[in-house]
Amino acid sequence: MGLSLAHGGHLTHGSPVSMSGKWFNVVPYKLNEKTGILDYDEIEKLAVKEKPKLIIAGATAYPRIIDFKIFGEIAKKVGAYFVADIAHVAGLVAVGLHPTPVGHADVITSTTHKTLRGPRSGFIMSTAELAQKIDRAVFPGIQGGPLEHIIAAKAVCFGEALKPEFKEYGKQVIKNSKALAEELSLDDGIELVTGGTDNHLSVIDLRNKLVTGKEVQNALDRVRITVNKNAIPNDPQPMILTSGIRIGPAAVTTRGLKEDEMIKIAHWILEIINNLNDEAVAKRVRAEVEDMILRYPVPGGELK
Ligand SMILES: Cc1ncc(COP(=O)(O)O)c(C=O)c1O
Repeated sequence: MGLSLAHGGHLTHGSPVSMSGKWFNVVPYKLNEKTGILDYDEIEKLAVKEKPKLIIAGATAYPRIIDFKIFGEIAKKVGAYFVADIAHVAGLVAVGLHPTPVGHADVITSTTHKTLRGPRSGFIMSTAELAQKIDRAVFPGIQGGPLEHIIAAKAVCFGEALKPEFKEYGKQVIKNSKALAEELSLDDGIELVTGGTDNHLSVIDLRNKLVTGKEVQNALDRVRITVNKNAIPNDPQPMILTSGIRIGPAAVTTRGLKEDEMIKIAHWILEIINNLNDEAVAKRVRAEVEDMILRYPVPGGELK
């Protein structure tokens, strides 16, 4: 059992187009239709009915806290392995800003390049009991030689995450995420999926604006604001268009942007959404975006 792709789950959690959906018989669970939040009672009922061998928790577009403890209890009740994929929130978990699955999950997987802010890679943690099986499945099962340079980069990433500054970074990511979401939601036509955010991202429902996520993503790309089109729960549009966008400030927070800048960014996003095909507005907003971001260079990448 994994969270449905259409409800914010990841492809690898059982989508029929990925190997996870081809190799395994996957029963997807969904978000509550009204609240957009994980419905743990329904997930438990489904697990009792389906008796899965494995339950995976974790999401690619979910703006709220995930209760790994409850997932662990449900898995235990039905005799399933519990896998927590913390790819998105790993950096927040590392510094205690999101509850940890350690102690609840049999296996924890993660990427290292999202809120953990490391190289494009990943890691797997498991109980001692499963470690050898997982090691063998990785090598010789599905991988060849190790990427030593990436392993070194991950060591640097973990070292950074142990420093007190990383906790400050995580706190600022959440403050920025909330500031951005709140400012966007002041526009009458904008709905936030679940009504807000507890973490590093929000999912914006654009249906009242009569525009697709793809149109907004492309229009924002042109003014150098990067978001991605994203399905909202029960999206009436196909996945290639979508009715939503997903937005998160983890990268700009590294450059030093704070709540005041989030408010400006929210206003630019709204201007673009409300004037989708207006070239003059796009040109002005792009100049303003460039003016701001040049004052916040990527750390280590300052022009000499
Ligand atoms: C929950 C989750 N797991 C795994 C991944 C895999 O990450 P990538 O494709 O960047 O390696 C992602 C990426 O979006 C994700 O959101």
